[in-house]
Amino acid sequence: EQQLAEESLRILNEYAATYFQENLMTDEGQAIGLSYFKQRGFRKDTLEKFRLGYCSESGEAFAKTAILKGYNVALMEKSGLVKNRNGMYYDSYRGRVIFPIQSMTGRVLGFGARILKSNEKAPKYINTPENELYIKSKVLYGMYQSRQTISKLDECFLVEGYTDVISLHQGGVENVVASSGTSLTEDQLRLIGQLTKNLTILYDGDSAGIKAALRGLDMALSQSFNVQLVLLPEGEDPDSFVQKSGAAQFHEYVKTHKQDVIGFRLEVGMKEVGTDPVKKSKLVNEIAESISRINKAEDFALQDYFIRTAATKLAVDENGLVTLVNKYIR
Ligand code: UTP
Ligand code: MN
Ligand code: MN
Ligand code: MN
Ligand code: MN
Repeated sequence: EQQLAEESLRILNEYAATYFQENLMTDEGQAIGLSYFKQRGFRKDTLEKFRLGYCSESGEAFAKTAILKGYNVALMEKSGLVKNRNGMYYDSYRGRVIFPIQSMTGRVLGFGARILKSNEKAPKYINTPENELYIKSKVLYGMYQSRQTISKLDECFLVEGYTDVISLHQGGVENVVASSGTSLTEDQLRLIGQLTKNLTILYDGDSAGIKAALRGLDMALSQSFNVQLVLLPEGEDPDSFVQKSGAAQFHEYVKTHKQDVIGFRLEVGMKEVGTDPVKKSKLVNEIAESISRINKAEDFALQDYFIRTAATKLAVDENGLVTLVNKYIR
């Protein structure tokens, strides 16, 4: 039964993805959706590569067409593509541009749908609800388009958003996936780990991005990733950066701003601590906990390096820090 539901959802999603792609090329689609994508600097080949689309403003065009095609309305509701109001079916993504979310092998698992004009009441993106096919914690946006290059280059960039993946690809950076807003999960990391153990996290340079990055870092350490972090200039995300400055500048920025876990934790932490001894003690504990996640049997030298660096920068006794780190090893 689970398999049947998965397969039915997959077939419906494939139909919908194609429908929205074709919709982007209608008169309305071109005037509204395509011009939006153009204004964001997305090329035609990029739109095709990521199967980007448009859902018309009519509010029921997709629902009607799909019902006529014989798709089951209960399934359509479950997919999140339509909403049922008193027995009438409406398009959930009306007037939005569509980002299909694909599996490792290219199957359409779900959708992100972006509003075109910012609106305080409506969310910027509407995403497919969890169902048999779309399990958010196990999906990384861009995996299908990036997997070969991640393996070939033996490195993966991790970004926050759909458009970050797309703009980086368009600029020639094709080893990048997105956690899609929410913080990274263990399952998502395992997916990356099948392809490479070298991970560079590139989250937005705002406080939410920093917080999410810190959580991701600790998880990656526990899974024995060689993890680096790049903080973008305040107010920028990878999409805006690469669209403004190009791929060459992007690579240069990454090269000169890559930090290891301890370097990043220290930079972020020291800014907050100032001269407050209580805050400093808390930071020392947080950093010790981070360091304790490194598998000592596998990465003794790395752990030792982090301990020495952190002790120096925090101006605490090295042996004291070793004791604290050992306390956190479970
Ligand atoms: P951002 O707010 O950074 O959006 O959220 P973005 O990716 O830069 O999008 P643009 O450039 O404004 O179009 C990062 C990611 O978080 C998820 C999406 O996956 C988004 O790409 N998100 C964000 C949502 O799911 N819903 C929202 O309302 C906002
Ligand atoms: Mn953000
Ligand atoms: Mn962003
Ligand atoms: Mn953005
Ligand atoms: Mn030592």
